[in-house]
Amino acid sequence: MDILKLVANRMSETYDLHRRFVNPQLVRVLEVIGFNRNYCAAEGAHLTDEKGQDVLDFLAGFGVFNIGRNHPQVIDVLHQMLDARCANLIQMDVGCISGLLAETLCSIAPGNMDAVFFTNSGAESVEGALKIARQAQRKPGVVYCEHAFHGLTLGALSVNGAPEFRARNEPLLPHCEMVPFGDLEALEISLAKGDKAAFIFEPIQGKGVFPAPEGFLKGARELCDKHGALLIADEVQTGFGRTGRMFAVEHWDAEPDIITVSKALSGGFIPVGAVITKRSIHARVFDSMERCFAHSNTFGQNDLAMAAGLATLDVIQSQNLVENSRVVGEYIKKGLEELRDRYEMLTEIRGRGLMIGLQFGRPKSIALKTGWKLLHSMNNDLFCQMITMPLLEKHNILTQVAGHGLDTVKILPPLIIGQAEADRFLMAMEDVLKQAHRFPGAAWTTVKNLGLRTARTSA
Ligand SMILES: Cc1ncc(COP(=O)(O)O)c(C=O)c1O
Repeated sequence: MDILKLVANRMSETYDLHRRFVNPQLVRVLEVIGFNRNYCAAEGAHLTDEKGQDVLDFLAGFGVFNIGRNHPQVIDVLHQMLDARCANLIQMDVGCISGLLAETLCSIAPGNMDAVFFTNSGAESVEGALKIARQAQRKPGVVYCEHAFHGLTLGALSVNGAPEFRARNEPLLPHCEMVPFGDLEALEISLAKGDKAAFIFEPIQGKGVFPAPEGFLKGARELCDKHGALLIADEVQTGFGRTGRMFAVEHWDAEPDIITVSKALSGGFIPVGAVITKRSIHARVFDSMERCFAHSNTFGQNDLAMAAGLATLDVIQSQNLVENSRVVGEYIKKGLEELRDRYEMLTEIRGRGLMIGLQFGRPKSIALKTGWKLLHSMNNDLFCQMITMPLLEKHNILTQVAGHGLDTVKILPPLIIGQAEADRFLMAMEDVLKQAHRFPGAAWTTVKNLGLRTARTSA
């Protein structure tokens, strides 16, 4: 089979195939916002589309490509694995590479971690963490935060703080309770009921890019200890250098009992995830030979994913990508703060390292206020398209909106970027902000028309 020839021959049908056989609503969205390009090649922080245009990837596959795309070291390791014809997935054995990756994960994780359970995705890591906590503590409930995102499988959805994802799935797991992010009093009230096995949180919430308020995680640690609950840090997105530390919890003084990871560990090649915890907790779940499969899966420890994980962690450490994330992140934040001081609708820059949220807010000047009101009366998700659409269309930079109805744009570039990529982004942002601060103007008309079109097609 010549897969590349097959793809080249059928490339022009891509969106049609998805319209017919996969998700036609996603195709409609991509078409209306002008994101319906075909990408043909990728390297590092750069994509090449079918017209041969260079696109700067400030989305990184929702945070998968911390080491950039198609990293030669990971490709080399995967080639070695394929050429060696490894004895993979025997199941009634244990593999060397998974043992090595578990050892490495424990060595880089904060706290005294010494037990790992491998998974295939972020949501599956969260499912594993919830099951381990419930079994270890012999309690059913979990506390989670408003706006939290931990994946979309049913267990993970039970601790999801966004009504739009939960809708039509209720009832979800019982005894799960939501508290405002940062509210220690509400957390204590919930934990004091005595039915909670764990408190799960993202150190920096992915939806909206909200870092944990100072003192919250330390307080949460103390409350969990007091009320016999485990502290679960979901680092699926924030892990592996994304925020300028190897794990984002290191920004605060709070050692979790369980850490969930996935995304970047894959190197962008093979889906993988892990639940990292302590032997004392793991042993309360896997507590007899009969229970050696108390929780398990088929593909979690597959050799290719494990090898990609080891190679990826080696790249992150040997190329100082955690420090690069911190330094370049600071540089971009500083540049954005200068823009914030000059463009009134850009109101706040949030985040750490290379996980940055650009918050927009209601302007004071009369003309812009009219435009702001008009767009928000049409649809609460429209405004940010005025930023992300021209960033791609005019400047060839791929970014994303940070969540429903938040007026926040988010950037998650690969951690390998340097000043050149940062400057290209900052210059593009300046241009896009300049256009957006002219009302009436072409930028507003484009997004207003998008709103009208969306309203018509969804009616
Ligand atoms: C913090 C967090 N947890 C869990 C998930 C779910 O991961 P996946 O999409 O691999 O299931 C995500 C995905 O974005 C995430 O950001």
